[in-house]
Amino acid sequence: MIDMPAFAAPFAQPAGSPIRELFPYLSQPGMISLAGGYPSPSLFDAEGLAHAAARAMTGDAQTLQYGATEGLPILRTALAALMRERGIQSGAEQVMVTTGSQQAFDLLVRVLIEPGDTVLVEVPAYPATLQALRLAQAHIVPVPMDEHGLQADALAALLRQLPAKQRPKLLYTVPNFSNPRGTLLAAERREALVQLACTHGFWVVEDDPYGELQFDTADAPDGSTPPMPPTLRTIGDRLADGGVNPVVYLSSLSKTVAPALRVGWMLADSSLLRRCAVAKQTVDLCTSPLAQMVAARYLESGRYPATVQRARIEYQRRMQALVQGIASSLNGCVHCAPPAGGMFVWATFAQSIAPQALFDAAVAQQVLYVPGKAFYPDSAPHHTMRLSFAAPDVPQIEQAVQRLAAAVTELLH
Ligand SMILES: Cc1ncc(COP(=O)(O)O)c(C=O)c1O
Repeated sequence: MIDMPAFAAPFAQPAGSPIRELFPYLSQPGMISLAGGYPSPSLFDAEGLAHAAARAMTGDAQTLQYGATEGLPILRTALAALMRERGIQSGAEQVMVTTGSQQAFDLLVRVLIEPGDTVLVEVPAYPATLQALRLAQAHIVPVPMDEHGLQADALAALLRQLPAKQRPKLLYTVPNFSNPRGTLLAAERREALVQLACTHGFWVVEDDPYGELQFDTADAPDGSTPPMPPTLRTIGDRLADGGVNPVVYLSSLSKTVAPALRVGWMLADSSLLRRCAVAKQTVDLCTSPLAQMVAARYLESGRYPATVQRARIEYQRRMQALVQGIASSLNGCVHCAPPAGGMFVWATFAQSIAPQALFDAAVAQQVLYVPGKAFYPDSAPHHTMRLSFAAPDVPQIEQAVQRLAAAVTELLH
């Protein structure tokens, strides 16, 4: 039989998403998963979404028709209003609806990156970003993070060292409650980062699916949430001073409303937006107008703020259960700091514990997490793990910690 043609180079030996490859374990009976960044099913506003869906279906025929690639005007307008609440001045024409914010990043990569191009990525990084960049055969240059997010001074040093032919095209960061570290990028670093982008001329992708999931802090004077630092996009508007804002802002309804809607969006300079729209034409023509109309009607219904507020309260409770459980049951072996929002706790474990052995022991104990190596561009062993507290409830989280403790104890003895 004749050989079939070769696969395109990036797909010759493709590595799938390290998180999606954990799926088979999820179906094992009794498994408690701290792995995926899944919102809690108990927080889905099914009633509100049912109303929104009914309204969407009784509207005009555009709900069941192909729509403009950039998105339905009604949703773009609603998202522009949401952006203004986040301090971002935007008109509907600057917002492009995407099929999840994941697609927005993929479109940017298609539009900007050629094999060998340099891309700066905060590390540890969201794995799908690394995957998209690997498939595009980008030259990934890691930028280190600490507990205050991406290290702007390390970035400045790196930019000084990079040879001219490795001038970066873009930088990727999740400034608000990052995935996986849970960090909030400090205000002065935000300013420095955008300043560097303006000086050196590279795009900054500000991926923000978690910014609204901020926790209350007991140490705030009135016990409320402290104000969020400004978005990079807002800083970019100011520093660009009428020129091109280098910041591309991405966000999503996945973490606050429902991932099944697959509604994300991108806010960017018109030159970039136009090219992303052309790229999207061949990917899916348009994001499902039905899903877009449900999202638009949901935002219009006024239920969104209360839904987000419920999520903030519940996720904070779950985060505290996880962090306190780790401190009391895994004291000395596993360390983590409480995040100020989002869905993830980033934990570090003793060097004496082999990462793969711990993962295997945890699976045997019926608890799942994402091993740290999924978040790095290299293949070195990493004594870290990402634990998501969003989907399991507090009793499940407590049980998961006990199981993790049993796995660690087994390895240490
Ligand atoms: C940082 C980050 N960006 C993007 C996404 C994808 O979100 P969406 O469902 O909008 O595609 C996720 C999902 O986990 C994420 O954590």
